[in-house]
Amino acid sequence: MPLVPMRQILDEAAKGGYGVGAFNVNNMEQIQAIMEAASETKSPVIIQASRGALKYSKMVYLKKLMEAACEENPGIPVSMHLDHGNSVETCKQAIELGFTSVMIDGSLAEDGKTPNTYEQNVAITKEVVELAHPLGVTVEGELGVLGGIEDGHGAGLSVEEANAHLTDPAQAEDFVAKTGLDALAVAIGTSHGAYKSGRKDPNTGEVLPPALAMDRIHEIHERMPTCHMVMHGSSSVPKELVDIVNEFGGNMPGTFGIAVEQIQDGIKHGVRKVNVDTDSRLAMTGAIRKVFAESPEAFDPRKYLAPARDAMRDLVYLPRMKAFGQAGHAGDYTPMSLDEMKAVYGK
Ligand code: G3H
Ligand code: 13P
Ligand code: ZN
Repeated sequence: MPLVPMRQILDEAAKGGYGVGAFNVNNMEQIQAIMEAASETKSPVIIQASRGALKYSKMVYLKKLMEAACEENPGIPVSMHLDHGNSVETCKQAIELGFTSVMIDGSLAEDGKTPNTYEQNVAITKEVVELAHPLGVTVEGELGVLGGIEDGHGAGLSVEEANAHLTDPAQAEDFVAKTGLDALAVAIGTSHGAYKSGRKDPNTGEVLPPALAMDRIHEIHERMPTCHMVMHGSSSVPKELVDIVNEFGGNMPGTFGIAVEQIQDGIKHGVRKVNVDTDSRLAMTGAIRKVFAESPEAFDPRKYLAPARDAMRDLVYLPRMKAFGQAGHAGDYTPMSLDEMKAVYGK
């Protein structure tokens, strides 16, 4: 099955009232683990690559691996998405490479650090939509600023500062109308990476789970019931995964992620794409550390990459696909080509 436009995967998710995990990849093991989980649960999936991932893999390697994933799993709709594109040029490159969906993160300037004005965000997002839709390619935009930094991209805001840049629901309505985008990434207090919480118990100093402004999602959904929302920074950072890392020589203190129940609440209110990267990094790292600690004589990479692949599949992708509701929906529809999608945008 060829790669599918992400817009179709999101439209179908909206019809079925479920969410779809968008999993970041940098290598073959991650792609295989996602596809094994998708095949076992019969789930449509979104596989995404950041600019850092494309640089690391020299672009064409990831593209070919994703094509192999489709070839091996003809019954699974797969969308290939650019995560956090920082310029029109980057989005163009991804489209030329064969991505069926791109994110333009116009909340920040091209340097990936300076917050853009609202007008700048509207202008660049609209420009990408005008470039992508005639080619049948889906566009995700972002309004509001997330905490944390990934690949040097991010305002570097602390969790407290990021809370002052949450998505404004009235502005979101204007943003969607002015840009014509397909999916809206919202800032509701999530942040990238393993350290998502700026809250501490005033008495004990212990880190508390991050506080999310779920009411923003509820209000955006009330104002725009057909808008597909995206939750970034949605790793749950499960204690079991952090414990494995720490048990075998790691040092990750005081971490908290986003509870699956909160994501499910978002899904009930219009969230259709759920971005998860950190959890698979944790699962992979824990599994590799375990092999190194228990078998110090091992030096064949397959001896630690195979358990790493299994851990990502079993501890992250399988449970998330079930929890987000995408499981069982791979066969609900006939995947569209980019040409067919072009015709839909042209109407
Ligand atoms: O957007 C966040 C992802 O975790 C990508 O991270 O830029 O380090 O590849 P990365
Ligand atoms: P996590 O760091 O929570 O996995 O978020 C990933 C993400 O939002 C990718 O865009
Ligand atoms: Zn993100």
